[in-house]
Amino acid sequence: MTTEQPPPQTTDAGIPVESDTYSLTVGAGGPILLQDSYLIEQMANFNRERITERQPHAKGSGAFGRFEVTSDVSAYTKAAVFQPGTTTRMMARFSTVAGERGSPDMWRDLRGFALKFYTSEGNYDLVGNDTPVFFVKDPIHFQNFIRSQKRLAKVNLRSNDMQWDFWTLLPETAHQVIWLMGDRGFPKTFRHMNGYSSHAYMWINADGERCWVKYHFISHQGVDFWTQEEGDRLAGTDPDLHTRDLYEAIERGDFPAWTLKMQIMPYEDAKTYRFNPFDMTKVWPHGDYPLIEVGRMTLDRNPADYHTEIEQAAFAPSNLVPGIGPSPDRMLLGRLFSYPDAHRARLGVNYTQIPVNAPVAPVHSYSKDGVMRIHNVADPVYFPNSKGGPKADSEHYQPASWYTDGELMRTAYEHHPEDDDWSQPGTLVREVMDDAARDRLVSNIVGHLLNGVTEPVLQRAFWYLRNVDKSLGERVEKGVAAGQA
Ligand code: HEM
Repeated sequence: MTTEQPPPQTTDAGIPVESDTYSLTVGAGGPILLQDSYLIEQMANFNRERITERQPHAKGSGAFGRFEVTSDVSAYTKAAVFQPGTTTRMMARFSTVAGERGSPDMWRDLRGFALKFYTSEGNYDLVGNDTPVFFVKDPIHFQNFIRSQKRLAKVNLRSNDMQWDFWTLLPETAHQVIWLMGDRGFPKTFRHMNGYSSHAYMWINADGERCWVKYHFISHQGVDFWTQEEGDRLAGTDPDLHTRDLYEAIERGDFPAWTLKMQIMPYEDAKTYRFNPFDMTKVWPHGDYPLIEVGRMTLDRNPADYHTEIEQAAFAPSNLVPGIGPSPDRMLLGRLFSYPDAHRARLGVNYTQIPVNAPVAPVHSYSKDGVMRIHNVADPVYFPNSKGGPKADSEHYQPASWYTDGELMRTAYEHHPEDDDWSQPGTLVREVMDDAARDRLVSNIVGHLLNGVTEPVLQRAFWYLRNVDKSLGERVEKGVAAGQA
């Protein structure tokens, strides 16, 4: 027990509080008075405690740490964060996608793997997932995809029927659906999963030479999973297991770590590669582009406060530093708009001034005023000016660019010989999974389909799965028939 006297309680304005036991009333039986400013402050602040949750990825937890470069990749990028010998403070937030802020961690779902590096050249965010591919390849589908994962309009229930209806009408989802329904769809903890950029990005070196890259964060803890039965039980008995596990591991000094490895594709290869390398429903086979080590990320500090440091954290794929640029991946290009827009809506226009989002690099922008701004631009407040205001350095910082030309149109990506939707998920089922993993895949899908999926979606699901792998489709169809009998 502490012997120190607690500090005197105050209002938010620092004024001593007269009582935290009784409201101010006229006599014991009389009305409460408006001059009880403390009571009013309590009620008013309470009503405003919840902020808008993230639309997708609402449930998550995170921690702070460091990224240390262990190899020399300066031939590929000039980014300060990846130069030999550099250590950069960073933070990570892991999340489920479909649930709400209070949903269990213990649901089958992708996991978000969002990183923020506080680099000397500004904040660099890498907002990835725990799988190397994604459901769709055009941002026009994303909002509909997320709605199909959320809740029905009338009964406000999640619906497997809605999910399979969407997936089976868009075969490009097949690869990610197989990852989701397999062991990777239910990670043991946030520590036991890899992280992937999933997108291709551009790296540019000091000589202006460009290449295409994909990021892989490989877990030092190993990759592990729950079976559906174990997970279902834990959703009832330990629903916040992932949040608790991450916090407790860091508290006991068991700091989770990941090695960053890159796949690097020469710039010219993209034009002639056998499939479109910017289609994020595909992986780049490691045989073609092997993993090259870059560095190590270690999480070594828990947040002191969840709301201000994790809930208010804002990650944006558009936060790219010199030496790193986007690629022609349409999903990535869509995301460049979406995240800062979401942050302005969720946290306000000055969200980059919330300490967790504030860069360590100095800020010299012309942004001005707005709600909750605490540091403002100094005069001059306009550009161009002859008063010594900040000036862009276009000699050293050129945009990441690639050549493109064409009519305005709405069409699929340019065709490459092996662009089909079924081959890679088929390879995943036949060549990456072993017999036990395939059995669990079948059982997970059968269980999912038996939980509310109706005709004609069911027949389309069998067709879709047979296209991935004939035997998978047949086994699932048999399993569903047995379950219905
Ligand atoms: C969160 C949009 C695709 C990973 C979000 C948020 C939005 C969004 C609006 C909430 C942001 C916030 O309120 O702070 C989109 C759009 C996409 C897309 C429009 C496609 C066009 C993806 C993909 C990935 C991904 C492909 C992974 C490769 C994440 C993660 C978060 C997130 C990890 C949570 C970030 C955090 O922890 O704060 N997304 N998303 N998203 N998204 Fe996406």
